[in-house]
Amino acid sequence: MKKLSIVFISIFAVFVILSSFTPVKESYQQEQTVKIKSVPAEVSAIIEQKCYGCHNSESRNEEARDKLSFDKWDDLNALQKLSKTKDVHQEVIEGKMPPEKFLERFPDRKLTDEEIKTLVDWANKELGK
Ligand code: HEC
Repeated sequence: MKKLSIVFISIFAVFVILSSFTPVKESYQQEQTVKIKSVPAEVSAIIEQKCYGCHNSESRNEEARDKLSFDKWDDLNALQKLSKTKDVHQEVIEGKMPPEKFLERFPDRKLTDEEIKTLVDWANKELGK
């Protein structure tokens, strides 16, 4: 009995470990397009190109989808928008998004300095900074 439960726990552990290695490539859908009406067009364009492939409500990248789906941005209330804007600001100035692991395989998805500036300027304005 004891042996059996050890076997089960081991199998479970292997599953948990393997599932954390879901290839980033498959979780990014490059062909997706979005038009966020409540942000400036140039901000929406950057998000579409550099973020939306993971952050959309159909995303296979569950973690990214749960944190932020940009196709739902227009439906957020003012307070939720501010809160998400703050998160975006934080991730962008810290250089955390798109994730490093993903950029190793898709270096062309890295935000350019100009794009970072556009996003940060927009967020600062929204946040009244
Ligand atoms: C390869 C997929 C991928 C891309 C591309 C991507 N993200 Fe993410 N993002 C994630 C994942 C996975 C998480 C959740 C885990 C984490 O916080 O690191 C996340 C989390 C976030 C969060 C929430 C952070 C928190 O802690 O609450 C924000 C905000 C965010 N991303 C913004 C962006 C922006 C802005 C871009 C584009 C410049 C972007 N992401 C591009 C995968 C991605």
